[in-house]
Amino acid sequence: MKKKKRLTVGLKYSGIAGLLLIIAFVLSACSAGSGGGGSEEQGLAELYLSELTLKEKIDIMGGGRLDWSDPSDMFSTLGNERLGIPGIIFADGPRGVRRHNRQSETSTTFPVSMARAATWDVNLEERIGEIMGIETRASGYHNLLAPTINQVMHPRHGRVQETYGEDTYLLGEFGAAFVKGVQKKPTEGYTVMACVKHFAANNIEDTRFSVDARVDERSLREVYLPHFKKVIDEANVASIMGAYNKVNGYHACENYQLLTKILKNEWGFNGFVVSDWFGNRSTIDSAVSGLDIEMPSSEGANGYWGPTLLTAIENNDVPEENIDESVLRILTKQIEFGTFDHSTSIDGSKIETQEHINMTKEAARNGIVLLKNDSILPLDRDAISNIVVVGEFADSARLGDNASSNSIPSYAISPYDGIKNLAGNSITVSTFSTVTGSENEVSNADVVVVVCAYADTEEGEGVFSQDRVSMTLPADELQVLNDAAALNSNVIVILESGGAITMNNWIDNVKGIIMAWYPGMEGGTALGELIFGDINFSGKLPQSFPVSENDLPPFDNTSATVTYSYYHGYRYLEKNGITPLFPFGYGLSYTTYAYSNLQITENTISKTGTLSVNVDVENTGGRNGEEIVQLYVGYANTGISDSIGRPVKELKAFDRVSLEAGEKKTVTLTVNALDLAYYNTATSQWEIETMNYEVYTGPSSKLSDLLTGAFTVTN
Ligand code: BGC
Repeated sequence: MKKKKRLTVGLKYSGIAGLLLIIAFVLSACSAGSGGGGSEEQGLAELYLSELTLKEKIDIMGGGRLDWSDPSDMFSTLGNERLGIPGIIFADGPRGVRRHNRQSETSTTFPVSMARAATWDVNLEERIGEIMGIETRASGYHNLLAPTINQVMHPRHGRVQETYGEDTYLLGEFGAAFVKGVQKKPTEGYTVMACVKHFAANNIEDTRFSVDARVDERSLREVYLPHFKKVIDEANVASIMGAYNKVNGYHACENYQLLTKILKNEWGFNGFVVSDWFGNRSTIDSAVSGLDIEMPSSEGANGYWGPTLLTAIENNDVPEENIDESVLRILTKQIEFGTFDHSTSIDGSKIETQEHINMTKEAARNGIVLLKNDSILPLDRDAISNIVVVGEFADSARLGDNASSNSIPSYAISPYDGIKNLAGNSITVSTFSTVTGSENEVSNADVVVVVCAYADTEEGEGVFSQDRVSMTLPADELQVLNDAAALNSNVIVILESGGAITMNNWIDNVKGIIMAWYPGMEGGTALGELIFGDINFSGKLPQSFPVSENDLPPFDNTSATVTYSYYHGYRYLEKNGITPLFPFGYGLSYTTYAYSNLQITENTISKTGTLSVNVDVENTGGRNGEEIVQLYVGYANTGISDSIGRPVKELKAFDRVSLEAGEKKTVTLTVNALDLAYYNTATSQWEIETMNYEVYTGPSSKLSDLLTGAFTVTN
């Protein structure tokens, strides 16, 4: 970012009038929208900067009032009326647009990000991002506070529903796809900015405001940061949100190492950093460390900036250059995204359209995962006359928690509604909230569907909710399941949560298990279609399901300091030789697929080369389906002998392919050698080991299901 360059308006006009004239001229030459942050936009931003007083600059860097009765005020920077600079108006995501200041108004509510990750369909995610961009603009907001890409370090983390799973590669692919969609330039109006969050190492709710996440350099570089970099490199995200927690002793919003050294200097991020709400903890430290916007801030909002920052600059505690750089970053993005020349307005006709709602259904259909099927599914409409759907949430649609990601649809289909609507006239479908009192109906049913969900208070964002207290089902949900299984041998369980659930005390008592996550406003419909086999299952797990919580590293949501390690999820399980209940990447369908003929086109590639792998995938069953083909790379020959070493294998590519019954396709997957690099802490460089690597391709991360090959990277 260039330093401030004062531009003098030395034409026939001077002062503001001259400035505006030039602005009008430059604006007409600029094309607003995403993609690049061109020099015209920065030149224009510099011009504005040169006209702003110090107080006005600080107003650009924050805003909002602490007035809970009108939360819109907490979500807008002040801008500058004198020069016609609009404030940036933020809205939350990522399961839909949270119309926080108009709660009575609704928006399209998608399956949570975890369910979308289970589709492994980045094209779908980009289309979903685009819809959220359209609805953000149509709701009068400039910036969507999404995606969330903190990985599932542990399934008990309350906010895992908002993110895309445990794997850094998958997170980066999904985050970038979503941002590309949100920031797609529209034919009319401003382009919506995305804000990727929460930077960084934000993986615990209960202590989120204060916990110090200690992360060694290799783990930070290889595990906790690469997906953020990918969203910057591949999607040019406009903004990034600093997390609440500390990272290695410094709050994320005053963390020079993270915000300035890595994000801005090393990665060349050209957008702005906004604090998580009430996440800035200092006046001077944050201003000199790389935070650009404090939210909420200014008079009355208890912020650390506003008038206090003005005094700090006047006292020479904060160089004005830092302020100028922040203002320049903010204004450049605002100009680039067209917020100066398009005002906000509400257009209800673009919100919750049928097309948007259909997309929620597509995501639910493709992201719901079939975990167990002892010949009970799909249900045969001709062979069944009576279904009971039971559970506290059987007839209420669980959409996720009620905190910042709480987008509210105008309607939502519950599992019971969906099953009943799809059952046809010859089947009676009834629902009960518990088995107690409905024992006869439960025991006489042909099939009992038990819906076991987490309440919004049991799994979700802190303040309104919490980290989960355990990985087992909540006691009341478990009770219903056990009661139903004691009375009927044809039980199918629908699970609704963001994080993995352990099942060792009940899995053998039921015939079918469906992981629905929080499946969105049309989730019930998708469940009905899947259960009756009108469509096939295709979702696969973006996180590992362990047999027991003891199989995972401990989840510490009480200590003031925690150490985040290099290994979690499948990388941890494999490194420690622990077999999961359901592995990362796993999911059943109503057909079968066979993998054969793994071919590595070049057995040796250079450090800048690309590996290309072909594999034949055949639908060997009787139904059409979509298969998620996965490629992992293994490091058995690593020469790294530090205490971390290298994982057994890591996901490096995937594809979703559609195959009719009997159809065979050759799928090509590619891996850049650069993606195999590790971070050498002695040289502070990314290095690629020249050695033989294993390549694994197949339907999940389970080693015995994968075809194996090898390739070499040379200098
Ligand atoms: C959450 C953010 C959210 C912000 C604004 C915070 O509590 O952590 O994810 O964007 O509130 O609602």
